[in-house]
Amino acid sequence: MPKQTLKSTIENLPYFEEENSAEVVNSRMGVDVSPRLRDVMTVLVKHLHAAIKEIEPTHNEWLAAIKFLTETGKMCSDWRQEYILLSDVLGVSMLVDAINHRRPSGATPNTILGPFYVENAPRYENGANICLDGKGQSMVISGRVLDVSGNPIANATLDVWQTNDDGFYDVQQKDLQPDHNLRGVFSTSDSGSYWFKSVKPRHYPIPDDGPVGKLLRCLGRHPNRAAHLHFIVAAPGFEPVITHIFAPDCPYLAEDTVFGVKRDLVAEFIEVTDEDAARELGVTAPFWKVKWDFTLAHKKPDNAVKT
Ligand code: BEZ
Ligand code: FE
Repeated sequence: MPKQTLKSTIENLPYFEEENSAEVVNSRMGVDVSPRLRDVMTVLVKHLHAAIKEIEPTHNEWLAAIKFLTETGKMCSDWRQEYILLSDVLGVSMLVDAINHRRPSGATPNTILGPFYVENAPRYENGANICLDGKGQSMVISGRVLDVSGNPIANATLDVWQTNDDGFYDVQQKDLQPDHNLRGVFSTSDSGSYWFKSVKPRHYPIPDDGPVGKLLRCLGRHPNRAAHLHFIVAAPGFEPVITHIFAPDCPYLAEDTVFGVKRDLVAEFIEVTDEDAARELGVTAPFWKVKWDFTLAHKKPDNAVKT
């Protein structure tokens, strides 16, 4: 290469400078990169570099961030997904969920699944009691599964799970709680209705003995989830909904640590003291009565081109 050309090449190389750092990194991508990956990485690098420029971390601060991410990874196992927990407490899980479940008005909103769902919970007849450890205040929950026009959906399934009165799921206390305590699957009747017995849910902390718990404490945040029941409601021809019902009197309703509370998911819990009403339903007074309807959106037509 002639000396003059080499000099000009060296002068004009895309040197990595503070000002153009993101552009230089992104310009290194090859030509055969998938368009989606190109878009995603371009945005990520752009915003990551912008954040670093705004924060101006010291070397030690950056090493502390790397250490935090390393510890988060080390905490992950078959039973524990600390990165999902991190995504939950940063509101990212609920944001991704919202983006992916934009439903027609009137349909029950989706929420995150959480780590404590278990497939193949016992199937029960309507009216069964899913509380197997006898702890907590009795609750009777009933309602219907409807389509967005208000028509009942027969034979819809409701998969429900919640913590016990000590604030733990059965799978967190395998040697203390009966298997499948406070979880079960129900089906709606011909009129779309369901009902079952359980206990009033309580607030509980998400697992906070790892780096995410440490982060919450450093941020002056508590680890508590607002008192709730989880549901997956499904029926053929309808979009299944993963959702919650929240108790209105929970002290953490406004500060659920994973941002799961939506206005349309806060139910009315009515305290019933009438002994006859309790006897009729097979519980003891006082008990809590909750009426809750789920509304499912019709499945979107499958636009996939079939070959
Ligand atoms: C739950 O509601 O079960 C849950 C959700 C997110 C993180 C931890 C627990
Ligand atoms: Fe939960």
